[in-house]
Amino acid sequence: MLSEENNEILTRVGPGTPMGELLRRYWTPACLSMEIPEPDCPPVRTRLLGEDLVAFRDTNGEVGLVVEACPHRGASLYFGRNEERGLRCPYHGWKFDTEGTCVDMPSEPATSTFKDRVRLTSYPVHESGGIVWAYLGPAETVTPFRDFGTETLPPERVYARKQLARCNWVQTMEGNLDSSHISFLHQYNGAADIPDDGSDKPGYPSNAMAWKFWQHDGAPRLEVHDTWYGYRYAAIRVTPNENAYVRITDYCVPYTTIVASNPFTTRQLMVVPIDDENCWRYNFTSQIDRNPNGYGGAPLFSSVPFDTPFMNPRSGITPREYTAENDYRIDREVQRTETYSGVRDFVSQDFMVTESMGPVYDRTREHLGTSDRAVIRMRTILLKAAKSLADGAEPPALAAPGHDFSKIRSAEKILENGEDWRVLGTDDDPVVQEAMLTAEPRD
Ligand code: FES
Ligand SMILES: [Fe+2]
Repeated sequence: MLSEENNEILTRVGPGTPMGELLRRYWTPACLSMEIPEPDCPPVRTRLLGEDLVAFRDTNGEVGLVVEACPHRGASLYFGRNEERGLRCPYHGWKFDTEGTCVDMPSEPATSTFKDRVRLTSYPVHESGGIVWAYLGPAETVTPFRDFGTETLPPERVYARKQLARCNWVQTMEGNLDSSHISFLHQYNGAADIPDDGSDKPGYPSNAMAWKFWQHDGAPRLEVHDTWYGYRYAAIRVTPNENAYVRITDYCVPYTTIVASNPFTTRQLMVVPIDDENCWRYNFTSQIDRNPNGYGGAPLFSSVPFDTPFMNPRSGITPREYTAENDYRIDREVQRTETYSGVRDFVSQDFMVTESMGPVYDRTREHLGTSDRAVIRMRTILLKAAKSLADGAEPPALAAPGHDFSKIRSAEKILENGEDWRVLGTDDDPVVQEAMLTAEPRD
């Protein structure tokens, strides 16, 4: 449970709020590169941390991220003409370059110097890994880009997409950091009938067997281990053969989760606040995947009765077909006989529970148990960072010497006798060393 005051601090992201100021200190996804695919293409609206912005790519391919409202009389620059190295307002023709400089003001006399005194607010951007990242904080506190591995990703391996969640960003984060719900929300009756393929033993179980383990032990033991970037936590389940099956998820301040995968992964999930009541779920490849088994998505879903929607190949935005308005297309007969949720789309099962809490959940009314340990730890870290920033402290997990974001990996395994889960997925894990040294890069 949180006090009303802490819930406000945790959830509000607008300019001037404690959390809004903290989030502005990190390079943050503003849109997908695919949304503005070529020079002089149409601009896109991108609301970020409660600010209405427009992103555009100029004639030279440079990206501009500017305030949507024209500084003249407020018309939306989304409707602007993107031409000859600048975005021109459709109302009176004022034109701005990617830095926000007014380069033309045809509605004033040619002799006027007024245009030299008008600026459009523009934020620094950096394109990496198929994402346009922006820095919305004070210019004097900008720190280098946090490279999760995207800087060296060859163009043909770039993969990024996003999907809209209609709720406060913290609710979505708390779902990503909650290993316990996979034993319920995402379950289906047929999991009990999955044949035992012999992988319930120390080592790496098959994805199919993992579903059995999730169903078998609904009350995992959670252990949270603090790190320089946030924490790693292990959800430890007892398998039918009484082994210790561990799923390790990473949390990197402020909005990154790397969800457990077998044997390990670096795949990013970022929850980016649009405003207090909406957020984007960004999902992207951060580096060449040398994981011999790869991301568990495809093989996992081929054996279970759930759908995964495909992103729009033109924009990179995965559409929402299961929404609050259609009750996430819940099928009560399916819920009674086939799946736990009755919702066919896997991610929409998550949307159903996180969005139904309301746009900004009132955490004074909750009752937290031991399975919420990782959720509580994230809140504690974020609240402390937001309050300390107001007192002049540096935010955690910024780019700095010794901070190698590309080495943050989640993992999954059935432990050997006496094995320490904290080693899994790190440079000291033999399976990581082997993959890095010997495996061919995967597509
Ligand atoms: S409102 Fe944009 S030029 Fe007048
Ligand atoms: Fe989930």
